[in-house]
Amino acid sequence: MSDQSVAFTRLRMTDCKGDGEAVKSPMELYEKLSEQGDKVRTLKSAKAEKAEVDAAIQLLLKLKMDYKQLTGQEYKPGCPPSENSAENGSVADDCDDEVNPWNVTTSNAKGVDYDKLIVRFGTSKVDQELVDRIERVSGQKPHHFLRRGIFFSHRDMHQVLDAYEKKKSFFLYTGRGPSSQAMHVGHLIPFIFTKWLQDVFDIPLVVQLTDDEKYLWKDLTLEQCHQFAVENAKDIIACGFDINKTFIFSDLDYMGASPEFYRNVVKVEKHVTFNQVKGIFGFTDSDCIGKISFPAIQAAPSFSNSFPHIFGDKKDIQCLIPCAIDQDPYFRMTRDVAPRLGYPKPALLLSTFFPALQGAQTKMSASDANSSIFLTDTAKQIKNKINKYAFSGGKDTVEEHRKYGGNVDVDVSFMYLSFFLEDDEQLEKIRQDYTSGALLTGELKKILIETLQPLIAKHQEQRKQITDETVKQFMTPRPLNFKL
Ligand code: TYM
Repeated sequence: MSDQSVAFTRLRMTDCKGDGEAVKSPMELYEKLSEQGDKVRTLKSAKAEKAEVDAAIQLLLKLKMDYKQLTGQEYKPGCPPSENSAENGSVADDCDDEVNPWNVTTSNAKGVDYDKLIVRFGTSKVDQELVDRIERVSGQKPHHFLRRGIFFSHRDMHQVLDAYEKKKSFFLYTGRGPSSQAMHVGHLIPFIFTKWLQDVFDIPLVVQLTDDEKYLWKDLTLEQCHQFAVENAKDIIACGFDINKTFIFSDLDYMGASPEFYRNVVKVEKHVTFNQVKGIFGFTDSDCIGKISFPAIQAAPSFSNSFPHIFGDKKDIQCLIPCAIDQDPYFRMTRDVAPRLGYPKPALLLSTFFPALQGAQTKMSASDANSSIFLTDTAKQIKNKINKYAFSGGKDTVEEHRKYGGNVDVDVSFMYLSFFLEDDEQLEKIRQDYTSGALLTGELKKILIETLQPLIAKHQEQRKQITDETVKQFMTPRPLNFKL
């Protein structure tokens, strides 16, 4: 495991208040504690005077007591307080799952414990009431990602709908870190859902391609990252976004082209400390300074005045961000800083992870080719990968399987079908048949193969139609069809 992931394994996200407040927030106390812990260690290793070491330890103990009083939790290094710990005194869970923008792992074959994650991250559940409300307000049957709890969590979605009902519109913001030429099917999830939101609410969308981020994190040149951004834009456009309502931008291009965007980046940079990003993202002293300031760049598109060609100088248009929950740390930081800049906090709709072929202990990730089905895979590759790697919840022999049935909770083929098979009744029948043993693993895999092959072939066909000129149009700053 890298230094960085050790530093923030068991990551908890935070509520970071502004400087100079008399009463400390849980996060400020947490940060102070981390600092004081570092100080005690430095003094000890430098063999400082006993009195000086003792005084530092006393202060550390006092801070630990204050922390317990404020949060109801013991201080644990590398385990920041949850966003709402001060309000509800939520008790720390065992922090077993690792979920952050760079890594998603759990020891549980069923995948991340999303209920625990909601408590830990301080988000809200997408419950039936919210799904019904989205149906009422949009006048459309909710997308199956909503019906099936794939977009399982949110921040401030009711507020967005309250305003929408009062005829106050909002905009969508999502993104992609272009680390390779080919995206995988997991990456499609937020984009498919964002397209649905754009259609049913009839609103503009901005898509950030963080080629700068990938240059900072990966062993790639700037030219490669920029080229991947353009290639990935084609896959995003192939999802069917409306050119009159969608602006896609590469950070490497847009940062220089838009003074308004850069101004927001700098404002965020001024209001977030190194300690805060260390606590949130686990950066260490040896991380390059580009990484340390990058979160400000992912935050800035949440604010409408970063896009004057779309929103003029309006700084109060509500933003809604659909993404998987691995990106939440960026937006927790953004939501913390927004009111101090006079901007509304972005709302979020957060999804579960599309699992790796080998099982739900990790998410599908482009950096592990065998864990992924890529949007460039041929029908044959899709078939071979599923047959060879897709983790099965079936029994060892046909006889046992017929007798005891399979386990859909850990079966990757079934999980994939729950993302991509739209027919609820058919999915339920497959669930029952597999659980009873009537359906064998090979048959389940066949259904998945026959579902994914045409879907990816259609995507490839749509992508082929996208010319460089179309990409250029999507990526040109211009007014969009948008009425306030
Ligand atoms: P990236 O490129 O890692 O991921 C792009 C989007 O895909 C989601 N995602 C997944 N969703 C379901 N299952 C998976 N296995 C899976 N893997 C990735 C991510 O949550 C993300 O929504 N830093 C970002 C780029 C970015 C961004 C944003 C993303 C910039 N601004 C705003 C979302 C919203 C990144 O590297 O994403």
